[in-house]
Amino acid sequence: MELRTTSTLRAHWQGSITASTAWKMILDIRQGREVEALTIADDGGWQSYAKVTAEARQLFDIYLPLVSRAGDQPLVIAQMGQTLDGRIATVDGRNELINGPAGLIHLHRLRALVDAVVIGASTAIADDPLLTVRHVEGPSPVRVVIDPSGRVPGGQRLFRDGCARTLQLCIDAASSCSGSAVPDLAGASSGCGVSGVLATLQARGLKRVLIEGGGTTVSRFLEAGVLDRIHVTVAPMILGSGKPSFSLSEISSIDAAVRARTRRFSLEQDTLFDLEFCRH
Ligand SMILES: NC(=O)c1ccc[n+]([C@@H]2O[C@H](COP(=O)([O-])OP(=O)(O)OC[C@H]3O[C@@H](n4cnc5c(N)ncnc54)[C@H](OP(=O)(O)O)[C@@H]3O)[C@@H](O)[C@H]2O)c1
Repeated sequence: MELRTTSTLRAHWQGSITASTAWKMILDIRQGREVEALTIADDGGWQSYAKVTAEARQLFDIYLPLVSRAGDQPLVIAQMGQTLDGRIATVDGRNELINGPAGLIHLHRLRALVDAVVIGASTAIADDPLLTVRHVEGPSPVRVVIDPSGRVPGGQRLFRDGCARTLQLCIDAASSCSGSAVPDLAGASSGCGVSGVLATLQARGLKRVLIEGGGTTVSRFLEAGVLDRIHVTVAPMILGSGKPSFSLSEISSIDAAVRARTRRFSLEQDTLFDLEFCRH
C-alpha cells in the first residue's frame, strides 16, 4: 500500500498524528480507503513522514498488522483477557474486572476491525454480552454464538437489542435454535465444529473473525490450527481458582508447547501479548 508523500501532503501534516487520528486512519485502511502520510507493508510494518505521538505509534504497531493484508484475505484472531495464573473468570463466571479500562478499549478496537465476533454458548449465558463497539469509534461486527444444542435462551440481549446482526449456530436449526445449522458441531473431537463455523461465516462474506471467548471456544480454535493470531491481555493479579483460559490436549514434553512470534505492549496496568502463528 504505497502512499503519496508530496510536499503538499507534508505541509498538511505539520502537526502530529495523535491517537485519535491514528485510530481514524486504521478504520479507513480497514474500509479499503487510502490514507495520507503512511506507508504500510503487507505485514503491518509502517513508516510516516509526519510526527507520530507515542500513543499513535502503539496503535499503528498493534492494529496495522490486522488491517494491512489485502481486503479479501481471511483473518482469524482470538483474544483472551486473563490473570497471571491463566484464569478468565471466577468459578461462578464473573470476569468484568479482570482487565483495566485500557484492556477493555483494546477489546472494543478488535471488535471494530472484524466482520464477526464469536462466543461460545457458556459465555452467552454467563455474561449476557452485547458484543457491540461502544468504547471506541467504529462499526459493530456481526455477533455469532456457537450453541450446538440451542441452550442459549432467546431472551439474551444480543438476540433482542437490534444493535447488530446475530447468528446462532446450532447442530440442527430446526430445533430450539433460531439460527443456522452447522452439523459438524456434533462431533466430540477437540477441533470439531471449527471448520464448519468458519465455512458458515465465510459463506456469508464474514472473512475477518474475532474469537472472543470463553476459554473452551478459543482453545478449540487454537487446537484446530486455524488461528492467525491470539491477543492475550494479562492482568497483574492471581485468582487462584476460576475458569481457565487455555485447555489443550496433554503434552509430555515442553518442546510440544504452542509457540509463536510474540510482541508485547503495555495497556496501562495490563500487558498485551500478540502471538502471530505461521499458517501459510
Ligand atoms: N476474560 C475473557 O476474555 C473472557 C471472554 C469471554 C468469556 N469469558 C468468560 O468465560 C466463561 C465461559 O467460558 P467457557 O470456556 O466455560 O465456555 P465458552 O467457551 O463460552 O462456551 C463453550 C461452549 O460453546 C460451545 N462451543 C464452542 N466452540 C464449539 C465448537 N467448536 N464445537 C462445538 N461446540 C462449541 C459448546 O457448547 P455446548 O456445551 O452447548 O456443547 C461449549 O461447551 C464465562 O464465565 C465468561 O464470563 C471471559
